Amino acid sequence: MTPFPSGLRPDDLHRELDRLERVSRFSETSRNLFDEGPHLVSTPELPWGDAVREATVDAYRRFIHGETWITGSGAREMEAEIVHWMGGLLGAASPAGFVTSGGSESNMCAILTAKQRSGRRGGSVVYPDNGHYSLAKLCGMFGLDAIPVPAPAEGLHLVDPEAIEAAIRPDTIALIATAGTWAYGSVDPVEAMSEIALRRGLYLHVDGAFGGYILPFLERSGYDTDIPPWDFRLPGVCSISADLHKNGMAPPPAGTLFFRDASLLATAKEICPPNGTMTGTRGTGPIAGAWTMVKLLGEPGYTAVSLKSMAMRDEIVEGVRGIDGLRIHPGSRINMALIHSDDLDLRPVATELRSRGWMFAARAVPAPVGIVVVPMPHNHGQIPAFLDDLREAVKSVAVPLNDAPAAAATGSVSSYGF
Ligand SMILES: Cc1ncc(COP(=O)(O)O)c(C=O)c1O
Repeated sequence: MTPFPSGLRPDDLHRELDRLERVSRFSETSRNLFDEGPHLVSTPELPWGDAVREATVDAYRRFIHGETWITGSGAREMEAEIVHWMGGLLGAASPAGFVTSGGSESNMCAILTAKQRSGRRGGSVVYPDNGHYSLAKLCGMFGLDAIPVPAPAEGLHLVDPEAIEAAIRPDTIALIATAGTWAYGSVDPVEAMSEIALRRGLYLHVDGAFGGYILPFLERSGYDTDIPPWDFRLPGVCSISADLHKNGMAPPPAGTLFFRDASLLATAKEICPPNGTMTGTRGTGPIAGAWTMVKLLGEPGYTAVSLKSMAMRDEIVEGVRGIDGLRIHPGSRINMALIHSDDLDLRPVATELRSRGWMFAARAVPAPVGIVVVPMPHNHGQIPAFLDDLREAVKSVAVPLNDAPAAAATGSVSSYGF
């Protein structure tokens, strides 16, 4: 048994902290093309530069010992402001909601609310199978049958609304759509799902963990005027999750769950007393950090961040098109690109890129591997170097897919690529 610490001297403690910090690779996050990390690095590429990050960290620190109960008045005000500001932008006339620990918790709270609203003890939940794994997880946790609806093989980002409707059972309590799917970046047919939900009397939750804090700014700035409708402007949408610690640029853990109105929040509180979240005590540091980020960036800041991220995404798409054998999965509407190949096994390529210091996610779909990149402002200036390394790695270590078993030994992947 590891003995309980007998009390470390400060010097030894600092050495141990240094080591743990080093293995966490915070200082290497400048080559991080995954969604984790930009919130931690100095990022002058944010509008107003490092001052934004420093103010965010300062607010987090000032509220680090607080909790949302007795000393929570300030944080609860901040939370209400975030909900009203962003919920309004998402098209709700009287939004309600709360700050969560992230996308998984937001999805859980939404579906618990749907379950409570239905009055059922069990039931089923229907969603396109490009949904995040937290959907199957929450169904398992809450005694609900998960009914993932397969998307067409040739377009994993597309799912047929008729197939969704056909999958609905008499015990179905909710539909879940995704706006900004992991790892395709696509937006599900929410308009059709909203119509189905209204007609069939079902709760509709939209998982906007990734898309929530970028799609509105891309639309409002005119970058993309053709984004399929997905938010509260559709009358069937009951709740939307959106992660502050993804494109909201805030330090983790911070997500948001928005309800169309206060009556749904009241239902959430019935099943998850007292505040609708999965937790009891909530630390106020993340709320203060997120509030500061939202207040400082505001709409101009988030628009600048969104456009900068998309410019890098477009640069990657363009560069990958010029590399023989590689493809970009179609359908992304956000700062996410899934690089894959029909002819080459990219597992050794992923391993080679990692050995050159690049951090990104890799996943086993499309088989055998897709390389997922999510450029954010801190990646400014790095895309040409990434494309050079990708080009070289493809030339030197990629193998034809028929030789895949041999290649498998040289690298492993998982859904997030850890
Ligand atoms: C679409 C989607 N939903 C939910 C989540 C879960 O978010 P979290 O890891 O913050 O719980 C993710 C994470 O990547 C996601 O991409």
